[in-house]
Amino acid sequence: MKPLVYVTRKIPEEVLSRLQENYEVDMWPKEEVQVPRDMLLDKAKTADALLTVISDQLDEELFSQSEHLKVVANMAVGYDNVDLAAASKHGVAICNTPDVLTDTTADLAFALLLATARRMVEAAEYLKRGKWKSWSPMLLSGTDVHHKTIGIIGMGKIGTAVAKRAAGFDMEIIYHNRSRHEVAEEMLGARYCTKEELLAEADFVVCLAPLTDETKGMFGREQFQQMKKHAIFINASRGPIVDEEALYKALVEGDIAAAGLDVFHEEPVSPDHPLVQLDNVVALPHIGSASRETRLAMMELCCDNLDAIFADRTPKTLVNKDVLNSNR
Ligand code: DGY
Repeated sequence: MKPLVYVTRKIPEEVLSRLQENYEVDMWPKEEVQVPRDMLLDKAKTADALLTVISDQLDEELFSQSEHLKVVANMAVGYDNVDLAAASKHGVAICNTPDVLTDTTADLAFALLLATARRMVEAAEYLKRGKWKSWSPMLLSGTDVHHKTIGIIGMGKIGTAVAKRAAGFDMEIIYHNRSRHEVAEEMLGARYCTKEELLAEADFVVCLAPLTDETKGMFGREQFQQMKKHAIFINASRGPIVDEEALYKALVEGDIAAAGLDVFHEEPVSPDHPLVQLDNVVALPHIGSASRETRLAMMELCCDNLDAIFADRTPKTLVNKDVLNSNR
């Protein structure tokens, strides 16, 4: 009998056919609507594998009820939606999709920085609404990006790829990370700083750190007040790293100039959310890795990881390596 895979979102036909060659596949049929929690729990009870996305919560409740479950292929580099300890305890391998999305996500983070600095969304809306009457000297003038200082919090693969783009814009690159990144220092001239130094010096503060217990709420009132008044804050990692109320206050009271956000505490964020309503905020619906090529590559990597598990090989991008010692 083929192993049963439950896929929690509608996926393109080409990936579905690949899965169907080796697995019995059951799939939540909607692309934009999340599988209800009850349905996910129910499907997981009989599945041998899950192909999930970042908004699916995979926790003790789910793992403890899913006797057959051997592997979860989570279509994201981040895995803050997964309780890794619970997964390992129940012998479930958790795989993610790093590397294949690095450049695409860095492109988006840098595009968001440019769009926010140059007020591109506001300007496009201005034109669409018929407000453009004439060329005028200071109309919709933003701020330069080139030759400014970018401060990257979280110099992992995506952070380094953003730094490369910044180097192409002749920016000075400073960064803060758990550990020093010698390659970025040597190749891109990036300078390591404490978080406080970075916040005080950067014209653009770009958050690319993963969501962990240490980074949760890392940007609050105090951090925004340490930034320059003309600073622009970009978040392309995870919403809960930022205290959204504090960010709103900082933007309204002029502690910082603007923000570009691809991620929020609650996703989908309401269009009426006070942050989303601000003119000095560019808000996107978590599309960091959303190019067709990259999303397909992420799904292919998920399939490779499932294949490895069912062929008794170690998956390419296994997150909870301690699971290899379990008997399931
Ligand atoms: C990731 O890969 O972690 C992206 O944020 C998509 O969820």
